[in-house]
This record gives sequence, C-alpha cells and structure tokens, in this order.
Amino acid sequence: MNPVLSEIVRTKKVTSPSGEVFDLNSEISLEEGQLLQRLISKYKPQKSLEIGLAYGVSSLFICEALVMQPQARHVIIDPYQTSDWKSIGLHHLRQSGYDHMIEFHEDVSWRVLARLFSEGRKFDFAFIDGCHNYDAVFIDFWFASRMMNAGGIIVLDDVKFPSVRKVCRYVLRHMPFRVIDAAGQPDPHRSWKWECLDMVKAIIPNLSQQIFKPEILRPDLEISRYFSCIALLKEADTWDYEKFCDF
Ligand SMILES: C[S@@+](CC[C@H](N)C(=O)[O-])C[C@H]1O[C@@H](n2cnc3c(N)ncnc32)[C@H](O)[C@@H]1O
Repeated sequence: MNPVLSEIVRTKKVTSPSGEVFDLNSEISLEEGQLLQRLISKYKPQKSLEIGLAYGVSSLFICEALVMQPQARHVIIDPYQTSDWKSIGLHHLRQSGYDHMIEFHEDVSWRVLARLFSEGRKFDFAFIDGCHNYDAVFIDFWFASRMMNAGGIIVLDDVKFPSVRKVCRYVLRHMPFRVIDAAGQPDPHRSWKWECLDMVKAIIPNLSQQIFKPEILRPDLEISRYFSCIALLKEADTWDYEKFCDF
C-alpha cells in the first residue's frame, strides 16, 4: 500500500499542510478501498471521476490503482476541501506523487458535472460519495452515467442510506446497469413477516401489485442492496427513456 495511505489507515490521524493533526473521519473502509482497486485493476479505466474528496482516503485508493494505467486522469469534485477539510485530501495526493493525474474542482458536484457534461467529457469509472441527499445522489448518478459509454462503471458508496438505496432502486429498474461487485456484508436477516408476505404475493400476485409498495414487492435484499458499497456496470448506450415503473 502507498506509504501515505498505509500511515493514515494505521494511525487514523491526518496532518494538514501546516502541521495540525486531526482524527480521520468520513473515510471509506479498507474493504471498500479494496473494491475500488479490484475494479480498476480488472476493468482498467483511463478516465476516472470522483465526487467527495474529504481527507482523500478513497482518492488515494483509486489513484494507487489508476496510476498503473498509461494516460490515467482522475477528476475530483468537492466544494468544501479548503473550508471543512483544510486541504488535507489534496495534500495527501500531492505527498503521494499523484498531482500529475489529478484535476480538482472546488465546487458543488451538480455545477461541475453540468459543465463537464456540456464540454463533452467522458469517463469510464466513477465513484460517488458526495452529498448523500436523494436528489444530489440522483443528479451525480445521472451525469456520471451520461458521461460514460457502455462498459463504464459507477461505484456508489453508503448504499445503506435510504436516500442512496432509492437511487439504486430507480437505476436498476430503469437504466441499463447491473451490479457486478460489492463491499460489506448483505443483511442475512429475513424476518417471518417477509416469509408471510412471500406467501401472500404467491397466492394473490395481481392484487399484491396493487396493495404493496414496490419496496415490499421487490425487497432491497433481492436486488443486492444491503451492502455498504456497490459497483454498477453500464450495459448499453441506449434504453427506453419512456418506460416508467414504480420503484
Ligand atoms: C463521506 S465524505 C467523502 C469521503 C471520501 N470518499 C473518503 O473516502 O475519504 C463526503 C464528501 O462529500 C463532499 N460533499 C458534500 N456536498 C457535496 C457536493 N454538493 N458536491 C460534491 N461534494 C460534496 C464533502 O465535502 C465530503 O468531503
């Protein structure tokens, strides 16, 4: 592991460019970092996008794997890098020697993404871990998906948040993406209530469609959504935009 990253993981502390020490927080887990690296090593993206830099832990995992690709570029967006994170994420990337492959935008994702999209930029890998409100995650996913061709990968963090899960539900029912990998443990618990519901759904399938919410008809567990972080592969460049079903 890159020495800067391994020191952060070991000590759970970060140091600002002026020498102030802070406790590490908000970072992805080691398992999630390994997921990012596994995907980059396997699919070999050249142009990568990340939303949410913070202290730079996920960026360090991404860059460590991405630097192996010739021509690799990593675009990062975070409006609060200076104000909230004391520029420590960028400091870590510089210390690790990754500055040559980084393009950083200190602004909210929806403004930067709209600009990158209108410039015709393309990516083949994206990691979304910025603002976790439903609308923000949806916009991040929407732009990332449109700036990528079939074969591109989007990794969504914090899938246990109801807001992020809801975005996943929409994506997997309407857009040409499928889950290819994940980090974290799925929740194995299935209470007796779910078993009863399964029986009702089997006995009166048509009526069930009208009675139950989509989350009950097709639970998250069934579409692998109880992991902490999931990777979605874009399978096609076009799809039926007019199709809509409850999600
Ligand atoms: C959970 S932290 C990211 C942690 C990082 N991935 C890591 O592993 O260290 C979320 C980040 O999203 C950023 N953020 C919040 N609102 C944002 C927005 N509208 N656009 C882009 N980034 C945003 C925050 O400043 C914060 O750095």
